[in-house]
Amino acid sequence: MTLAYRESGSGPPLVMLHAFPLSAAMWEHQYGPLGRVSRLVTPDSPGFGRSPSTQREPSLDVIADEVNDLLDQLGLDAVVLGGLSMGGYVTMAFLRRHSERVRAVVLADTKAGADAEAARANRERIAEAMLATGDTAALAEEMVPTLLGKTTMQTRPGVVELVRSHIRASEPAAVAWAQRAMAARPDSVDTLKNAGLPALVIVGEEDVLTPPAEAEAMASALPNADLVRIPQAGHLSALEHAAAFNDAITSWLSNLAPDAP
Ligand code: MLT
Repeated sequence: MTLAYRESGSGPPLVMLHAFPLSAAMWEHQYGPLGRVSRLVTPDSPGFGRSPSTQREPSLDVIADEVNDLLDQLGLDAVVLGGLSMGGYVTMAFLRRHSERVRAVVLADTKAGADAEAARANRERIAEAMLATGDTAALAEEMVPTLLGKTTMQTRPGVVELVRSHIRASEPAAVAWAQRAMAARPDSVDTLKNAGLPALVIVGEEDVLTPPAEAEAMASALPNADLVRIPQAGHLSALEHAAAFNDAITSWLSNLAPDAP
């Protein structure tokens, strides 16, 4: 399979992986600003956006390996790799399998721990509902209020509608596959610690899915992490307060040693 992707800019490569159940379209407000300081590459995960689905067993390793193949195809040996939420989980899977290619990581609105049993059961409930009904409109109604912060829900109807329409457009089988892949992910605290890479941890102050306390714990467990809190943003901080998100990455990238491993 070849993953679909979109890119912008021509500086040092920055690969950003999208959240669930969205696609690279979520980075719309990053292409301009981050494309001025990097070559921003944003793949669609299998079954999302324009990427074909996969027949392999659900595992985030599958996405990590597809991203690795894409880097081969683009001739990118060493990149700054990051992602938001599920994109962060895939970044951790990539570190387990292809860490030699990663110079530094961006971990936005994500967490290093594995799921508790109740979270796994909830993912399986959603996976089965998607395969049985294909009702992505119901999925959107369930997810939007948790993905977006209270400020966005109350004051940014355009963002609410955009996220709702992205979720409605998702492929039910891909949603089910990704839920099962996320449920199977292992704890990644040691992976992140052992990688020892420069890390930028970003969190929306109104994120209820991976709250600031979670981001603080992850940042303080890492040897070389900066933490940035984005005001008036929930879980989808890159969409909800794009300017602050882009500023955080731009300023952190400018301090990253050009020859960091
Ligand atoms: C995401 O935004 O990617 C999801 O909320 C991740 C998750 O379900 O754990």
